[in-house]
Amino acid sequence: MTRTATPVDQLTHEEAAEELARLAAEIAEHDRRYHTEDAPTISDAAYDALRRRNLAIEQRFPELIRADSPSRAVGGAVSEKFEKVRHRVPMLSLDNAFSDDDVRDFVERIRRFLRLPADAELGITAEPKIDGLSMSLRYEDGRLVKAATRGDGQTGEDVTANAKTIADIPNVLSGDFPAVLEVRGEVYMTQQAFLALNERQAAEGKQTYVNPRNTAAGSIRQLDASVTASRPLHFFAYAWGEVSAMPADTQMAMVEAFRSYGFPVNPLMQRFTDPEGLLAHYRLIEETRASLGYDIDGVVYKVDDLALQERLGFVSRSPRWAIAHKFPAEKATTILNGIDIQVGRTGALTPVARLQPVTVGGVVVTNATLHNAEEIERLGVMIGDTVTVQRAGDVIPQILGVDLAKRPDDARAFEFPSVCPCELKTPVVREATAAGVEGVVRRCTGEFACPFQRIEHLRHFVSRRAFDIEGLGEKQIEFFFNDEDLPVKSPADIFTLEKRDAENLRKLKDKEGFGAVSAAKLFTAIEERRTISLERMIYGLGIRHVGETTARTLARGYGSWTAFHDAALAIANGDDQAREEMDALEDIGGAVIDAIARYFGEAHNRALVEKLAAQVSVIDAEQVASDSPVAGKTIVFTGALERMSRDEAKAMAEKLGAKAAGSVSSKTDLVVAGPGAGSKLKKAAELGIEVIDEAAWFERIGRQGV
Ligand code: IVH
Repeated sequence: MTRTATPVDQLTHEEAAEELARLAAEIAEHDRRYHTEDAPTISDAAYDALRRRNLAIEQRFPELIRADSPSRAVGGAVSEKFEKVRHRVPMLSLDNAFSDDDVRDFVERIRRFLRLPADAELGITAEPKIDGLSMSLRYEDGRLVKAATRGDGQTGEDVTANAKTIADIPNVLSGDFPAVLEVRGEVYMTQQAFLALNERQAAEGKQTYVNPRNTAAGSIRQLDASVTASRPLHFFAYAWGEVSAMPADTQMAMVEAFRSYGFPVNPLMQRFTDPEGLLAHYRLIEETRASLGYDIDGVVYKVDDLALQERLGFVSRSPRWAIAHKFPAEKATTILNGIDIQVGRTGALTPVARLQPVTVGGVVVTNATLHNAEEIERLGVMIGDTVTVQRAGDVIPQILGVDLAKRPDDARAFEFPSVCPCELKTPVVREATAAGVEGVVRRCTGEFACPFQRIEHLRHFVSRRAFDIEGLGEKQIEFFFNDEDLPVKSPADIFTLEKRDAENLRKLKDKEGFGAVSAAKLFTAIEERRTISLERMIYGLGIRHVGETTARTLARGYGSWTAFHDAALAIANGDDQAREEMDALEDIGGAVIDAIARYFGEAHNRALVEKLAAQVSVIDAEQVASDSPVAGKTIVFTGALERMSRDEAKAMAEKLGAKAAGSVSSKTDLVVAGPGAGSKLKKAAELGIEVIDEAAWFERIGRQGV
C-alpha cells in the first residue's frame, strides 16, 4: 500500500486508540461489502493489510483492544447459511435521476413511448425511497409462507423465520386478500433504534454497525431468529410479485389494498399529473427528511396506471415506468495519503486514492476512484493535498476538488506508471478511440499473462451474474489461483478441481480454511454449475463491452452455444456475412462486434473457451414466449406507426419472443411497415420478405391493439 501511515512503533497511546476505532469501523464496512453485498471495494491484499495493521497495534497496546475489535469478530459468509429462493417474478432495481431535468425527461420519455397526446393526463406517484433492504413476502390463503431477500433479483435467501419476528409484517392477512399474494417492500431500522443497538453491541463486546441499513441487513441475516426478534425492525409495503387476482388497477390503489391487509405503507406517497408536482413533492420530502426518524435516499416516481406500466415494460433490470430521484451526494474533506494502481479485468489501470479515513454520510470512506491519469491532471491533485470527497449511494466515492490553500510543502506529484504493477512489468499502452485519438485509459498489454488480469477474469467468471458458484468467491479464487496443489488459472480448471483433488496426495479437505464439509460442498456447487444458461456462459467469458444485457441479447439471438461460438469465430476470421447478422441484433453495434472479434481472434482466448466448453454443458437460450406466432422471428418496424411508438412496437415484439432488428437483411422474417416507409420497404421487396401493415401486425399477434 502506498498509504503513508505512522509506523506502529511510533504511535502514541492516543493515536493508537483513535486508529483502532477507525480500523474497526473500516474493516466492519469491508466485511459487510464482501459478505452482505458481495461487492468488495478493495483488494484482498489491501484488506489483509488493514487487519494486519489492526493486529500490530493491538499487540503493542493490548489494553486498547476494543470490544468490537475485528480480531475478535467471528465474521464469515452469512450468505451461505440460508436456503435459496427463486423469485417467481424478478425483483427489479430502479434507474436513477439526479436532477430536475432528469425527472422531466423521464416523464417526457414515457409520454413519447406511449404516444400520449399533449392533453392526455398521466398520473405518476411519488414516495420516499427507503434506505433499507428489500424483501418479498409470499402469502398463500392469507398466511405468510415465505420471506426472501432480494439477492441478485432472480434468487434471494429464505429468511422466513426472521421475517416472522418483525411486528410490522403480518403473519396472517386481514380483509379481502387474493389467494396468492407476494407483497414487496423495504425492511428498515429507525435511527434511534440503530444508535441504541450499537451502544448495546459495543457494551457487550459484539460487532457494531456503520448505519441503520447495514444493521437492518445484518439483523435479517441472522441464523438465530431470536436475535432478529431482539432487533427493532420495521417494514413499508410498496410493490408486489406474484398476485393471483389483482385487487386494484393503479399503484395508489394497490398500496391502499396492502394497507387494508395489515401492512404499514408510507404516508408520504402522493399522485401527481405533471413533473412540476413531482418535483415540489421531492422538495417537501427532502425538507422533512431529517425529522422522519428513518433513512431515505431519494424519492421514487411510478406511473400510477398499471395497464400503462404493463405497456411500458422493462429495460434490462429496471422498469421503464419508475425512476428513483436521488438526493444529492454527501461530501466531506480529508487528506489524500497516496495513490495506488489497480488493474482491472480488461487490463485497465485505475488510480485509486487512499484517503485519511473520513465519515461521509455515516460511512467511513478510505478510498476513492480517480478514474484515470487525466482525472488526476484535471483535479491538479498531489499526494498530501486536502481534497473534497463525495459519496452518492453505493457507488465508489469520488474526489471533487482540491483545496490548494492547504497544500503542504512536501506535497508530491503522482507519476502514472508506464508499466503494469504486476510482476511482469508489462508496458502500459493507451488505446486509440474510434476517432483515432489517444484514449484516456491505460491498459496493461499482458492480457492473460498478467496475473492481475487473469485473476480479475476468474473473479468475473465466478461472480454472481456469471457462473455464480457458491463458496467460490473472490477470496477462494485468489486462494486457488496461488495454490500449488490445485491451481486454477483458467475457468476450465474450476471444473476439474474435484478430479484433480482426488488424484492429489494433499487433499483440499486438509487445507486450512476448508475441511471435509466445505470441500465437499464446494465440489457440489461446482457440479451444479456444470450446466449453465447460454447467457451466463457468454457473460462469464468476460469479453469487453459484453455486459449482462448484451450477453442476453446474444443468447437470444443465437439460441445455442454452437451457433454463437461459430458466429464469433467467423467474425474473428473477417466473415462479413456473420458480422452483418450480429449487427442486425437489436442494440448490438460495432464496439461489441469488434470486441468479440478481438477476443476470439486471440489464440489463447480461443483455447480457453474451448477448454471451458468441453467441461460444461450450455443450455440453449430461453425464448421469451416460444408459443407466440412471432416467436423466434426477426422483425423490422419501419415507417410511421399509428397505434404505438417504434420503441413500444419493438418492446412488444421482444416480449413475444421475436427479435426486433434495425435493418432489413436476409435474416429478416417480417417487415411491419407504416405510411412513409422507404428504403427498408424496398430492400424487403428485393429480398422477397413478407411485409404487413400495423393492423395486420395486431391481427397476427392476436390483439386488438395496445
Ligand atoms: S419500487 C420495480 N419503491 O430501491 C420497482 N423501491 O433501487 C421496485 N426501494 O430494490 C422497487 N424504497 O429495495 C420501490 N418506495 C420504493 C422504494 C424502493 C426503497 C429500494 C428497493 C429497490 C431499490 C431500487
